[in-house]
Amino acid sequence: MSLEALGSLVEPFWFMGLALTYLPGTILVCLRAGDLGTLLSPGRLRELWFARFWASVGPGLRDMGSKNVVPLVQGRVTHGVVPPAALAGDDQRGQPHPHPAVSGTVLEVGPGSGLWVSLFSPSSLPGVSKVYGVEPNPSLHPALRQRISEAGLDESGTYEIVPVGIEDLESSGRVAAESVDCIITLKCLCSIPSPEHNIRQLYRYLKPGGRWYVYEHVRCFPEQGIAMRVYQYLLGFVWPRIIGGCQITRDTGRYLREAGPWSHVDLHPLAGEQWFFTLPSIIGVLTK
Ligand SMILES: C[S@@+](CC[C@H](N)C(=O)[O-])C[C@H]1O[C@@H](n2cnc3c(N)ncnc32)[C@H](O)[C@@H]1O
Repeated sequence: MSLEALGSLVEPFWFMGLALTYLPGTILVCLRAGDLGTLLSPGRLRELWFARFWASVGPGLRDMGSKNVVPLVQGRVTHGVVPPAALAGDDQRGQPHPHPAVSGTVLEVGPGSGLWVSLFSPSSLPGVSKVYGVEPNPSLHPALRQRISEAGLDESGTYEIVPVGIEDLESSGRVAAESVDCIITLKCLCSIPSPEHNIRQLYRYLKPGGRWYVYEHVRCFPEQGIAMRVYQYLLGFVWPRIIGGCQITRDTGRYLREAGPWSHVDLHPLAGEQWFFTLPSIIGVLTK
């Protein structure tokens, strides 16, 4: 086994170890604030713990993910292949993009601390008129609000936080069925409850012709071999307890394909990923 493969297999333990180092500080923050309510509620403590951890690791994850996320929202990813940065000038050479860029009214599911909020600014995605960020963890809202403000999307009212889980989106009355041009899910469908049901519910918000831009980690692919699937399965018992409820063995690609009738599905494993990746990704666009 190569050193690279070994490193990749051990990496989840390093990441969980890092997350664990944020737990004592989180408890201390609660004690200092006299916030016994959070301290005695495992759910709220986990939310605060995750928010503090994500605030710290998020920017690094953004740097690593940008090379995939930016072309995805620009509509330049197809068949799981992300064009190399050198082809960023495709427009000038008249090459059409495989999909339209994200535009119109957008639903961003689980924006977290707002790592990707700046993408919705007019200089980045000029066609975006409104974004609903559906984020249930209140401990993430201050960072999310700050990034909305930094991107200049607060004064214009372009980016609105909807402080509920997607399972409560309908009862919130904030977004009507078939009113959304684009849904964006970036590494968040791992964290939602009842994924099959809630992904079907999300499908209802898309207008006919609406597009769903996906970049998610999923269960290991059969091609990765049985050993990797078992390894991931075993890891899946510990990982969610430490990484904010994130489930790593979901068949999210299938849930998305089966969410409803699509006119076009361009959702594939991310090209270039190796057999030893514990969190393999799918990437692409589904059109209603
Ligand atoms: C791994 S984080 C990813 C955050 C962000 N998309 C990013 O890339 O930095 C998963 C996010 O999903 C959110 N989440 C959890 N349950 C959710 C639900 N029921 N509805 C919507 N989002 C949820 C979490 O609060 C968290 O912000």
